[in-house]
Amino acid sequence: MTELSPLDVAGVDAAVAEALASFAAATSLDELKEARLAATGDKAALTLANKLIGGLTPEEKAQAGKTMGGARAAIGRALAARTAELEAERDARVLVEEAVDVTLPVSRALVGARHPLETMQERMCDVFVSMGWEVAEGPEMEAEWFNFDALNFDPDHPAREMQDTFFIDPPSSGLLMRTHTSPVQVRAALERRDSLENEGRGIYVVCPGKTFRTDELDATHTPVFHQIEGLAIDRGLTMAHLKGTLDHFAKSLFGPDAVTRLRPSFFPFTEPSAEMDLRCFVCGGSDPDCRTCRGTGWIEWGGCGMTHPNVLRAAGIDPTKYTAFAFGMGIERTLMFRHSVTDMRDMVEGDVRFSQQFGMEI
Ligand code: PHE
Repeated sequence: MTELSPLDVAGVDAAVAEALASFAAATSLDELKEARLAATGDKAALTLANKLIGGLTPEEKAQAGKTMGGARAAIGRALAARTAELEAERDARVLVEEAVDVTLPVSRALVGARHPLETMQERMCDVFVSMGWEVAEGPEMEAEWFNFDALNFDPDHPAREMQDTFFIDPPSSGLLMRTHTSPVQVRAALERRDSLENEGRGIYVVCPGKTFRTDELDATHTPVFHQIEGLAIDRGLTMAHLKGTLDHFAKSLFGPDAVTRLRPSFFPFTEPSAEMDLRCFVCGGSDPDCRTCRGTGWIEWGGCGMTHPNVLRAAGIDPTKYTAFAFGMGIERTLMFRHSVTDMRDMVEGDVRFSQQFGMEI
């Protein structure tokens, strides 16, 4: 390549024309960048010509300065114009290429939900936690001693029979699947009796969890179900404290108008014992055709009573100094009548559509 002189007007014009043609030929901003570097970079003919100005005479300098200044200006204008064109083209193309068709069908990912039994259990515990009670848990596979003996069941009590209880093989293991949450009463009392004795701290616990009975699965029975147990041990506790606690529990779950009633009953581990009913919160007892209470005005909710002295003794607590009350209810049952679930199998089958109806909170 012959050197271009800054005094060669025709040569400079030709170089400028070549540069402008290469800008016009660039079809993208990247190509334009390459063309710009070729026309104005360190090794470009025009750049080299510019460097020669320094060695010219003053007159020649003036002449060359004019020629080269004109060339720079022409290239600058052409570059700016082509840049603007190519940017506009790119923007228009992006709008088309990246357009989103909001009418296309989407692929929906299924969202899960917490099981309502779990959220119900949490809500029940929260009522007691907010009163300063503790939540205690015990094993689902339990010693027969905790499930029956410590709870004052006679050795020949019918509830121990094979048809109610899942025993663990071999029978000599002394183990079973707990038939209720009441064994946790004895465990919780044993664990806390020192602070009761030494610090005078009353024992106030709720124990939620799975329980097992040899029932067939049908609309109203399931072999695995859930209970929540309450136990309070302190000096001077009476049946009035039990009733007040249950009333508060009922109002917290079913609203300020909730009413409970106690009916005499029998459990080996409480004396006196009672069944606890809830005034029907749907009809209030006024609708003989009410589906929730079947027209009786009351809904059976659970069992309760004053803890039997023998149970306190089994937990190493002196029944002449302390009294205690306890209660227990089914969580499935509570969910059924609180949310009009008519078939227990819906709670067991694990179809996410059942859980989703309850959302994340009940
Ligand atoms: N454990 C009893 C049951 O499963 C309920 C209960 C708990 C009764 C505490 C009295 C006191 O039916």
